[in-house]
Amino acid sequence: MRAKILVTRHLPDAVEDRLRRDFEPALNEADTAYPEARIIELCRGCDGLLTCPADKISGGLIDAVSGSVKIISTFSVGFEHIDLAAAGRHGIAVTNTPGVLTQATADLAFLLILGATRRAFEGQDLIRRNAWSGWTPTQLMGTGLQGKRLGILGMGRIGRAVAARARAFGMEIHYHSRHRLGPDAEAAAVFHQTADGLLQLSDVLSIHCPLTDETRHFLNAQRIARLPEGGVVVNSARGPVIDDEALIAALKSGRLAAAGLDVFEGEPEIHPGYRELANVYLLPHLGSATIETRNAMGFKALDNLDAFFAGKEPPDRVA
Ligand code: DGY
Repeated sequence: MRAKILVTRHLPDAVEDRLRRDFEPALNEADTAYPEARIIELCRGCDGLLTCPADKISGGLIDAVSGSVKIISTFSVGFEHIDLAAAGRHGIAVTNTPGVLTQATADLAFLLILGATRRAFEGQDLIRRNAWSGWTPTQLMGTGLQGKRLGILGMGRIGRAVAARARAFGMEIHYHSRHRLGPDAEAAAVFHQTADGLLQLSDVLSIHCPLTDETRHFLNAQRIARLPEGGVVVNSARGPVIDDEALIAALKSGRLAAAGLDVFEGEPEIHPGYRELANVYLLPHLGSATIETRNAMGFKALDNLDAFFAGKEPPDRVA
């Protein structure tokens, strides 16, 4: 008998085709966001739940579905939206999709770096408002990257892929991570034992750490004050790593020159202060949004379900 899987959002066609072939999926063709109560209701009789970062898989939800659901497979590398302790209490497996979104997310982080440093929003806005009166020697001057210091907070797969791109732009790479990399992986990047050591020389700070109790609101007013005057902050990891009020104040005062943000605390709601600022380049959580990557994420989520229902250890089990 094929396992019954609740799929909370519409997935790329190739992924849904494979789901239909190998499982009995309850698909969300209308692609509407399900509130918690609806997920609980739809999980009735399901063996597995295929979820994504926009769903909150709380302890209460897990308690309620634990009678039938045996595995939660998230279509994401991040899994902070799932209460792992509750899953563990019920012996429910949790899996994610590491590795396949590294390059797409690093590309996007670079889009944020370039968008912020080259004032892409302001330029685009001039054109869209039909307010561009022509080329001038001083119009919308940004900052070049050659020779600038890139500070990478969190040197995992994505941080390292951003470093590789930054080298091609002639940037000096610095990083802080829980562990120092070996010389090959480090590739001449400068390790900083403390986050403060990294902050003080990051002309551009790019955030790539996971969201944990320790990193929530990491970039607060005190830490922003350690960044170089006129620094730039980009975030393609998780919104709550930044204290929005503090970042908005620093962008407003000119203490920081610009920011590039793809992720937000409370998304899809975003702090309204960001909308009022011209020096912030905003994208709606598009880090992994390429067709190649989204297919690969879906296939990985299904590989985990396949292994689990074949009685094997899922390759990307996080709990
Ligand atoms: C993830 O996989 O955690 C990303 O945020 C989705 O792009």
